[in-house]
Amino acid sequence: MSFDLVLFGGTGDLVWRKLMPALFQAFRHGTLPAGGRIIGVGRDSLSHEQYRALIQSRFDKVDLAKRPSAEEFERFAAILEFVRMDLSKPDDYATLAASLQERKANTVVMYVATAPSLFTTVCEQLAAAGLNTPHTRVVLEKPLGHDLASNRAINHTVRRFFDEKQVFRIDHYLGKPAVQNLFALRFGNALFEPLWRREHIANIQITIAEDLGVESRGSFYETTGALRDMVQNHALQLLCAIGMEPPINAHADAIRDEKLKVLRSLKPWTTETLVTDVVRGQYASGTRGGQAVPGYREEPGVNPHSHTETFVALRTEIANWRWAGVPFYIRTGKRLAGRDARIVVNFRPTPHAIFQSSSQVGNQLVINLQPKDGLELHLFAQGQNNRKARASAAQTLAPVQLDLDFDKRFGSERVGAYERLLLDVIDGRLNLFVRSDEQEEAWRWVEPLIHHWAADAQGPRPYAAGTWGPSASSAMIARDGFCWDEES
Ligand code: BG6
Repeated sequence: MSFDLVLFGGTGDLVWRKLMPALFQAFRHGTLPAGGRIIGVGRDSLSHEQYRALIQSRFDKVDLAKRPSAEEFERFAAILEFVRMDLSKPDDYATLAASLQERKANTVVMYVATAPSLFTTVCEQLAAAGLNTPHTRVVLEKPLGHDLASNRAINHTVRRFFDEKQVFRIDHYLGKPAVQNLFALRFGNALFEPLWRREHIANIQITIAEDLGVESRGSFYETTGALRDMVQNHALQLLCAIGMEPPINAHADAIRDEKLKVLRSLKPWTTETLVTDVVRGQYASGTRGGQAVPGYREEPGVNPHSHTETFVALRTEIANWRWAGVPFYIRTGKRLAGRDARIVVNFRPTPHAIFQSSSQVGNQLVINLQPKDGLELHLFAQGQNNRKARASAAQTLAPVQLDLDFDKRFGSERVGAYERLLLDVIDGRLNLFVRSDEQEEAWRWVEPLIHHWAADAQGPRPYAAGTWGPSASSAMIARDGFCWDEES
């Protein structure tokens, strides 16, 4: 199958850091269909050769195991080309059209990895140049808008020129192997389904913690913040994957219909819960790996009086028969104690305790997304302290765990998130992409928070870099009689 993959923003950060390394991995593994072409688009005047040299130099920053040898790069480089374009100039789209016309590939993928302010222009100009054919697919990177109205405006423009089936909205968390395994765990095994409900589950915690700060993205982050950057998309998509009903089949719309229902069932915010059920924080100076690190307000590009949140913890519920009353906690932030993304399902304790230590704590299923990728099932057993237990009248149980490490189990066969998603776009599989109505519903749900914070002069609570965020986040969950996973 021949394809042309056009990367708008071809000299930008996302292309260097994520897309090219992912495409190279697919090329190396032989999963990138043969006969393809990758066309970087940017404002610089670069020849194909210069673009290839630039990409090769950037591979120095990629993990050693994922770097191409000189010989591998030479083969990969043969499919790389560059087209100079000013995206605001209609004539430049004619140049692109001419380049695509040369080959007439079966599939043309337009990956818009630019500032979101250009999405509308790019779609309009592609259409004006006759590049919105039935063979075209458009990939849009987040953030898609900064609120419901701007998101709708983008979706509206895109729909004027492309059918929903042609639009691939990326949320790279859906491409993570652990998230796909979560779907497999829930819908490919009957074991957990009878337990997956309010009668057996006490609460669910979704944590996406990063130990890095905003790095060089200060000015971008100032207008974004953790709610828009992580909660509206990644965290809510994880919540959908954990909370959705079994879809009728594995097709994209069946999955997306069920995710949409979850988003529609999220408890609406009230004046009270906007205060009691959300904590926003901002990192102050602290340490990372023993080294002193600056606070958010000292980062380059950041307003020294900024109110932008770098941490959000919130409590919500999915108001339906399966989940009524079960708290779902979401927590994400930068400069936290570690890089750690996981979903913890806390089951209810036994209804009647006959052993000494099992009365208050239930079993736990932990879905590790990163850095570890796997599943842990926490159980109780008669462990090392059996001899001691024999001496006492009542037996004491020890916590033990079943530990499934997918990296060890599947090793190098694992496919990274962007690699998987890019191949899905080329193959036209929409399962792991977000439909416009899902995205709008997620914006609708976070919008009261945006408005509430904009009117709140108090600003986010400071937390020291290298910790788990403001103590108010622990107080919020403690009110329900629970604690965050690492506090137990
Ligand atoms: C991106 C956010 O979508 O996800 C970044 O814009 C964040 O701020 C990143 O660092 C986290 O992705 P991952 O895959 O490293 O957890």
